[in-house]
Order: sequence, then structure tokens, then C-alpha cells
Amino acid sequence: MRTSTTQVTSAQAVTPPQAVTPAQAVPPARDLLSRRSLLLSAGTGAGALVLAACSGGGGGGGTAGTTGEGGATSGTSVAPSGTVVTATGDVPVGGAVSVQVDGAPYLVTQPEEGTFEAFSAICTHQGCTVAPGDGELDCPCHGSRFDLSTGDVLAGPAPSPLPRLAVTVSGTDVVTT
Ligand code: FES
Repeated sequence: MRTSTTQVTSAQAVTPPQAVTPAQAVPPARDLLSRRSLLLSAGTGAGALVLAACSGGGGGGGTAGTTGEGGATSGTSVAPSGTVVTATGDVPVGGAVSVQVDGAPYLVTQPEEGTFEAFSAICTHQGCTVAPGDGELDCPCHGSRFDLSTGDVLAGPAPSPLPRLAVTVSGTDVVTT
């Protein structure tokens, strides 16, 4: 008499998955980061380290200012090169004029005859609009004063200079570079 045997198919012979504890299923975030950092740094060296450093913060964001190709730093507005900012004749020698560039406030200065500079008019203290002063640039809110030539802080509480907008003269206009 033949006894009944249970045949085991190859599919059934596969070892069942091991039990996964909750701790194994979801490693702590710091473990994920360190594993990823290790993989990246092992892969391509220094460049990967930079990548690993950048990937941890969720994007790195941006900066308020933008450095143009000429090294000049523009403020919060980036107008196309050649954008007319103001007419040279509208800027007093030893003074400044308030203008709008791409919807943002700027100051164009002429510290010496024929020398033109431009700066963001947004105060680096708390964001008030800086205005032309007597041989300087003045913030009406808390009294910060800025240099006409450099935008440097002459008197606080502003913590840093006004961001520069790179400009040049084209004919009778001051234009962005
Ligand atoms: Fe300009 Fe405070 S916002 S000095």
C-alpha cells in the first residue's frame, strides 16, 4: 500500500522571510544619512563629500544676492544686462537718486563726477528703504548710514553693507552690466 506523501515543490521549499523587527524595518534617520554619506564618499572622493554635505539639508536654498560674472554683487533683483537704471544727468555729484530696477528699490550714486555706483536700497538691518542723504545714504528707520561709494556701513545698527548692483555708463544712461 502506498502511503500518501506530501510533495514539496520548489516554490514551497523557499525559506520563508525572516521576521523583521520594527527597529530593522525603519532604520533611524541618522543611520540612513551615515550610510548614504559613506556610499557617496566611497564612490567618488571629495566631490561626493560635497554632494553628501549638500544633500542632508533638503536643498541648500539660495542666497539673497547674486554674484555676476564680473564679480559684482547685485541685490535682490537681477535685471538683464543693459537695463537702463537712470539717466546720468539725474544723479547729483556727491549724492544719489532713488530708482526702481525690476520692481525693487535701488540707489544710484555719483560719489565723484563721472563715477556711478548702485546699491540695493533695502536696509540690511530690518529692511526699510534707504534714501539719499547728505553725501551718504540714510535709513529713516533706525538711523543707519551708508557710504556713497561702497555701500559700507558708516553707522549702525545695520550689520552689513548695502548689496551692490553692477552698473556702467552707456551714452547718457546708467545701465546694468
Ligand atoms: Fe535700517 Fe533699521 S531698518 S536702520
